[in-house]
Amino acid sequence: MCGIIGYIGEEKAAPRIIYGLKKLEYRGYDSAGIALIDSGKIERFRAKGRISNLEEKIKREPLKGVIGIGHTRWATHGKPNEENAHPHLDCTGRITIIHNGIIENYFEIKEELKRKKHKFTSETDTEIFAHLIEEYLSEGFEKAVETALKRIRGMYAMVILCADEPDRIIAARQGSPLVIGIGRGENYIASDVPSFLKFTNRAMFLEDGDMAVITRDKVTVKNRGKKVSRQVRNIKWSADQAEKSGYAHFMMKEISEQAQAFEDTILGRFNESRGEIKFEHVDAKELKKIKKIKIVACGTSYHAAYAAKYLIEKYAAVSVEVDVASELRYSNPVVDKETLLLAVSQSGETIDTIEAFKSLKQKAGYSIAIVNVVGSTLSRMLHGVIYTHAGPEIGVAATKSFMSQLAALYLFALYIGRIKGKLDAKFVRRGIQNLRKIPGLIRIQMKEKRSIERLAGKYSKKRDFLYYGRNISYPMALEGALKLKEISYIHAEGYAAGEMKHGPIALVDDRVPNVFIAPKNALYEKIVSNIQEIKARSGTIIAITNRSNKEMKKFADDIIYIPDIDEDYYPLLEAVPLQLLAYYIGVKKGIDVDKPRNLAKSVTVE
Ligand code: G6P
Repeated sequence: MCGIIGYIGEEKAAPRIIYGLKKLEYRGYDSAGIALIDSGKIERFRAKGRISNLEEKIKREPLKGVIGIGHTRWATHGKPNEENAHPHLDCTGRITIIHNGIIENYFEIKEELKRKKHKFTSETDTEIFAHLIEEYLSEGFEKAVETALKRIRGMYAMVILCADEPDRIIAARQGSPLVIGIGRGENYIASDVPSFLKFTNRAMFLEDGDMAVITRDKVTVKNRGKKVSRQVRNIKWSADQAEKSGYAHFMMKEISEQAQAFEDTILGRFNESRGEIKFEHVDAKELKKIKKIKIVACGTSYHAAYAAKYLIEKYAAVSVEVDVASELRYSNPVVDKETLLLAVSQSGETIDTIEAFKSLKQKAGYSIAIVNVVGSTLSRMLHGVIYTHAGPEIGVAATKSFMSQLAALYLFALYIGRIKGKLDAKFVRRGIQNLRKIPGLIRIQMKEKRSIERLAGKYSKKRDFLYYGRNISYPMALEGALKLKEISYIHAEGYAAGEMKHGPIALVDDRVPNVFIAPKNALYEKIVSNIQEIKARSGTIIAITNRSNKEMKKFADDIIYIPDIDEDYYPLLEAVPLQLLAYYIGVKKGIDVDKPRNLAKSVTVE
């Protein structure tokens, strides 16, 4: 995800900012930029690609400014090019801003500002905020930011400079992290501690709704207009730990970021009161003509796609086929002008998925890529694109990208259900309400992760695991088994619980744990029968069920409870404990869970 750094002090700001940006590189980015105030004017430099390209641009410039901001951008709204790189400016060139997150209502505001003759030079949502401040600047810089903040909705971390008041940086946080580094006669603002840790280990973390005014020797914080004090903490992390924000592994950091990834992916794509969903780069008229959907993916993305099949068939009454890309490539699928092709991929670079689409795209009526990496091959190849906003994922095993794919696919299923006239606005509204609840529920699940760690301790020496689920929880069983296999090297298989009697039941003994995903849904009774069949043969059961289900105690050896929600939405809550179980077992076995052997994050060879 984007990286933010700001500096105010007595030293030249540019070297500090470039240093900070390099420390934020691990977050992933596709362009970088810097803006300083010098002699009452803003100087700005931006470059596509690596930070070294930016350094090349500023090498010959005598940059004397002692206040400045810098940004690494991971494209979300608009391509990864120089025009879209931050910092952005207003019309007068006196206000400059860097931003992390999404301004949900940017489109409306942009239209309003266009009517007031504002000219925009980028496709970003960020740029509108500089222009919005410009509208109110007669009130003074601080007041103008306060007023502008009241106009926007969404998730953001913003850092702003104004050439008229070169003694201050203003920062605001809502949903995206911001931390102030408190130095002597100098202060920093950043999205993460490593960018200033070399210069100060005193950090003040901002909270949602905070707006901070940072001068060389003072920090004042207000929350929704009222002055507040925020604790200054001494950070004891090493630089490596700091990049992981104190987490032991990127994988755990990313599991913990899932609530945010989910939120970022759904935000800005619905109008709850109207029960409406929209996707910026998808043509609804084309979808109306569709009679069949074919989804293609690999690995974890395939499991997200598989879950979508159940939803789309239920909500839109359209037949959905899900294929593993490597198989589809060499088969003869029936694809015609009434077929919608959907590619699901984190990287957008998986060779099998790309190749499968090369031949099929021409035959299909319409095609959409659901991808995380903006500008990736798949995102450019198909007719439409839906970006998942998971941010960069560093751990090889997909976690938050899976969650954000599910977020996009749940929304898509409701969307196409509506387009096909099978769902009414009330149903979609209820769906949106459920989706909105998910981030909060995931956060609650993360608070209870220690109980899963204890369970992992109990089972980490096992050599085989079986995972079972039914209906939409079946793909979750596949994903749970895949996660365990990938990062603990324990042999694990996922099965449709109804298939148990056709093979895996032969494996029942006291050595193989059976993980049953069994929320109280329409098929609950059926899965309980499967559980009882294993119990009768002295098998071990770990059950995942919802909290209000008290009777599971009778059947299971261990239970992982998930929060109650409308039954279609359980998979979103099942994913978290399955990932945590795999993670803790892998860690207990001493495996480098971020880089498990033989696996690659992005498989670009066949
Ligand atoms: C590799 C990764 C998996 C990922 C799969 C598909 O196997 O290790 O985590 O699910 O590729 O990648 P994609 O980028 O297409 O989602």
